[in-house]
Amino acid sequence: MSHFIAPSLLSANFLKLEEEITMVNQSEADWLHLDIMDGLFVPNISFGFPILNRVKQVAEKPMDVHLMIVDPDRYLDRFRESGASIITVHYEACTHLHRTIQAIKQTGARAGVSLNPHTPVLLLQEIIKEVDLVLLMSVNPGFGGQTFIEQTYRKSRELKTLILAHGADTLIEVDGGVTLDNARSLVDAGVDILVAGNTVFSSSNPIETIHQLKHC
Ligand code: DX5
Ligand code: ZN
Repeated sequence: MSHFIAPSLLSANFLKLEEEITMVNQSEADWLHLDIMDGLFVPNISFGFPILNRVKQVAEKPMDVHLMIVDPDRYLDRFRESGASIITVHYEACTHLHRTIQAIKQTGARAGVSLNPHTPVLLLQEIIKEVDLVLLMSVNPGFGGQTFIEQTYRKSRELKTLILAHGADTLIEVDGGVTLDNARSLVDAGVDILVAGNTVFSSSNPIETIHQLKHC
């Protein structure tokens, strides 16, 4: 498949949320990325169910929900009810990751696992066949607009090798510091989905920027 683009709403203008989502609807974006932060797993708090439920009413692209929260199992059903098509949890936040992955799938959503920059790809070898998507954090999670961590290229290639070795069809998503300058190199390193917050929403022409990311 050609790679997907998932604009991250964290960098949108929240006073104009409906306009921002409509822009994404009208663009070549494939998914809408939504960052949920609890102030515990990451040193920031973003937004929760009331916002998601409103976003759901306007969004026409699948909602790609990235949970940066401890004990995500408590809320999986509610995230699904709030519109999530993809639910991604952090490896570092899940003691019983296998159980959590099954629980996500039972909601009807696709199941993703995210790795922080310091977490090795090989830790996923026992579970890779169960996982629909692996999200590689290319910044430390918690904030938009940070600088891309270069080791992500190598991690993506390692992850691709792991996926192929297990005969899995897991997708690779990269999140953090994605720009028009590094997008092509990431796709060449095996990345299937590019998340972009600042690059899209700080652009003077976000629709054109999404087009450029899509055709990088
Ligand atoms: C960071 C979030 C990202 C963030 C990316 O913790 O997971 O999705 O919105 O923002 P940019 O693209 O600006 O680095
Ligand atoms: Zn994210």
